[in-house]
Amino acid sequence: MAGISVRSFRLQARRYGAGMVATEMISSYAVHYRNQRTLRMLELAEEEHPVSVQLFGNRPEVMAEAALAAEGAGADIIDINMGCPVRKVIKTGAGMALMEDGKRAAAVVAAIVDAVRVPVTAKIRSGPGREVTALSLASRLEDAGLAGVCIHPRLGVQGRKGRADHTVTAALVERLRVPVIASGDIAGRVDAERLLQGAGAAAVMPGRAMLGDPWLFTDMLAGRERRRRRPEEVMAEMRRFFQDLVVEMGRERAVRFMRKFYGWYMKPFRLPSNLAGELRRAQSYDEAESLMESGLPGISPVS
Ligand SMILES: Cc1cc2nc3c(=O)[nH]c(=O)nc-3n(C[C@H](O)[C@H](O)[C@H](O)COP(=O)(O)O)c2cc1C
Repeated sequence: MAGISVRSFRLQARRYGAGMVATEMISSYAVHYRNQRTLRMLELAEEEHPVSVQLFGNRPEVMAEAALAAEGAGADIIDINMGCPVRKVIKTGAGMALMEDGKRAAAVVAAIVDAVRVPVTAKIRSGPGREVTALSLASRLEDAGLAGVCIHPRLGVQGRKGRADHTVTAALVERLRVPVIASGDIAGRVDAERLLQGAGAAAVMPGRAMLGDPWLFTDMLAGRERRRRRPEEVMAEMRRFFQDLVVEMGRERAVRFMRKFYGWYMKPFRLPSNLAGELRRAQSYDEAESLMESGLPGISPVS
């Protein structure tokens, strides 16, 4: 998830049992032009493997070059983004726009498969517009050498709204020889089982449900419904995550980065008035830390 799946986030997912993690989407052009911030996105930690590095772009040779760099950085899988609906991305012919140009999409796959030794996968949607085109496209990509497909079965017109239609996932499993990974509305054991046993997916990839709730993995792996967590437990994990972010990106960026996470972690709780706002407005690590420490006794579960 762009703007979310930084290294600390991936490490957290692994600590809670995720079998594999994926980076944010990384611009192949920015790797080509040696953008320093982008190259730092390719820095992977020992403990996060296996990790899939996702690239976006639409020029086969530039994508192949970036894939080689990612492989050199230790990527266990190279994943091609073909699902991003953001205008800035699709107007360059990348992300979801690749689904509209099967020939180019296949050329991108073939170029990367040629360049690297690790498996190459693609993350697709049901279709870039109003129609389901994933099946024929995925077949074509499979023929070009793809080792697996991750499907987020929403249409382009849906963005990230509405329900994911996993009948498309099941149809894809029927159609392809390679493994299919399912993404979309996976919020617990029941959803996961429906996809693994029901639709025949090889793996499931939770997205938004995991925000502020890495215990999703432990609960899912233990085969139980999600449990309520105590405020102390959630606060301790939030602070641990914050500390990891500080190591990863420095205090200043970590303080800004954390702003979107407080609400996710604190969602199951009733907070002392103003705590959420004060946390989001905190200007320094020390200020945020002391707010978390002093705020804890006043946090209670929503009944
Ligand atoms: C903030 C945000 C950023 C995302 N960024 C990416 C991305 O960089 N690459 C990608 O393949 N999917 C991205 N996605 C899509 C998710 O991987 C996932 O397929 C989608 O959210 C559906 O799963 P969910 O319903 O469990 O959230 C993003 C989703 C969100 C909410």
